[in-house]
Amino acid sequence: MNKKLYMVSLGPGDVELLTLKALNAFKECDVICVPTKSEDKSFTKSITHTIVSEALSILGVEKKILPVYSPMRFNPQDWEDEADVVIEACSANEKVCFVTLGDAGIYSSIYYLLDIIKVKKRSLYDDSEVIAGVTSFSAASAEVKKALCLGDEALTIKPINPRGEVKTTEILMRPKIGMDTKSLGEGDFYTFENMYLKDAKITPSRIEKVKRYMTLFINFAKRD
Ligand SMILES: C[S@@+](CC[C@H](N)C(=O)[O-])C[C@H]1O[C@@H](n2cnc3c(N)ncnc32)[C@H](O)[C@@H]1O
Repeated sequence: MNKKLYMVSLGPGDVELLTLKALNAFKECDVICVPTKSEDKSFTKSITHTIVSEALSILGVEKKILPVYSPMRFNPQDWEDEADVVIEACSANEKVCFVTLGDAGIYSSIYYLLDIIKVKKRSLYDDSEVIAGVTSFSAASAEVKKALCLGDEALTIKPINPRGEVKTTEILMRPKIGMDTKSLGEGDFYTFENMYLKDAKITPSRIEKVKRYMTLFINFAKRD
């Protein structure tokens, strides 16, 4: 069987901000796991359910919807329970989507779930794919026609109510061709070159010398 688990970013709320990749995953899958904060697993207050329903109606397809109770208490046991629902859905179906608001890389629980799935069912982790989406702040910037960063400005994203020490992920863009990257420092670096283009390359470290302008570095926050 050709198993697949899609972790689908839904964008900030407007169905038109879904990506083609997200729509294709919905078309292809057997079941869509939709998180809900309601204990009775209803979707009365669920923005994610509204976006998924609108997308399915645009596609003209019907899919099984599986509610996943997600109380958003930041409790590891809740993530374990959610991961178990997803693992179970993947055992019973060939292709499964799990959805999250905005972009999956920004304050989404999907990486807690993927960490658990990696330990409990490695093959499913290997068969998973994260589909990127439009963040709430990219959409907000577009709504008011104001750039998030221009020229030499930097961009900061911060949790308003941190539970402890705030660690930082740094995204470094617009390098000079030929530059030595030592000055960028040390850390959990990845280098992304020509993403989705010819000669695309992802290196799980900081490359020494920049070869092309279409290069960005991410120095990920140190996590245990
Ligand atoms: C758990 S985070 C998820 C962020 C999301 N993954 C993203 O890419 O924007 C939830 C926070 O994102 C922001 N947010 C998400 N969607 C929003 C929207 N449609 N309007 C305003 N803020 C939004 C709010 O600050 C909210 O408290």
